[in-house]
Amino acid sequence: MMMNDIVLVGFGGHAKSVADCIEREGKYHIVGYTDMREADSRYSYLGTDDELHTIFGGGVKNAAIGIGYMGKGAVRQHLYATLKQIGFYLPVITDPSAIVSNTAVVGEGTFIGKCAVINAEASIGKMAIINTKALIEHECVVDDFSHVAVGAVLCGQVKVGEGAFIGANSTVIQCRQIESNAIVPAGATIR
Ligand SMILES: CC(C)(COP(=O)(O)OP(=O)(O)OC[C@H]1O[C@@H](n2cnc3c(N)ncnc32)[C@H](O)[C@@H]1OP(=O)(O)O)[C@@H](O)C(=O)NCCC(=O)NCCS
Repeated sequence: MMMNDIVLVGFGGHAKSVADCIEREGKYHIVGYTDMREADSRYSYLGTDDELHTIFGGGVKNAAIGIGYMGKGAVRQHLYATLKQIGFYLPVITDPSAIVSNTAVVGEGTFIGKCAVINAEASIGKMAIINTKALIEHECVVDDFSHVAVGAVLCGQVKVGEGAFIGANSTVIQCRQIESNAIVPAGATIR
C-alpha cells in the first residue's frame, strides 16, 4: 500500500515529536520540511514556506505544523490559515500509545502525543496540542489552537478557551473554565 505523503511545516523541537509520532503511526510518509533555514535533520529540507504552493502542486496534499506553542499561538494560527488557503489537509496525528475514547471528538490537525489520554465525551478542537502524558478527563472541552503541555491534568468537565496554554504537570480541577489565551503556569493547581 502506498502511504500518503506529508510535509512538516516548521522544524522546531516540537517537530521532532510530531515526526516521531507520524512514523510510529505509520499512516503517512514524511517527504521533508519547510522552515526559514535548513536544520540538522535526517529529513529533506524543502525550502521556506514560499515553496508550499509548489509542494502541494507536486502532489503532497497533507501537512503537519511542527512549530510548538508556549503561549504565543499567532504563528501557528497564521500558518494554519496559509495551509488551508493552499488546500492542504491537516490530519490528526495520534501516537499509537495514546488512548482516545471512542466517544471523544478531535478536530483537524490536532496532535496527540505519547501516552496522552482523552477520555469519554471529551471534545478537542482543531490544531490543538495534547502533549506527552497529558490527561484530558471525561467531557472536557478544549478549544482550537490550545496546548495542553506534558503531564498536565484536566479533571472532568473542564473547559479550555481558544489558544490557551496549560503548563507542564499542572492540574485543573473539575468543572473549571480557563479563558481564551490564558497561561496556566507549569506545576500550578487551578482550584
Ligand atoms: C508561568 C510562566 C509562563 C512564567 O514565565 P515568565 O513570564 O517568563 O515569568 P518569570 O520566569 O519571569 O517568573 C515570574 C515570577 O513567577 C514565578 N513563576 C514562574 N513560573 C512559575 C511556576 N510555574 N509556578 C510558580 N511560580 C512561577 C517566578 O518565580 C517569578 O517569581 P518572582 O517574581 O517572585 O521572582 C513560566 O514560568 C511557565 O510556567 N511556563 C510553562 C512551561 C511549560 O509548561 N512548558 C511545557 C512545554 S511542553
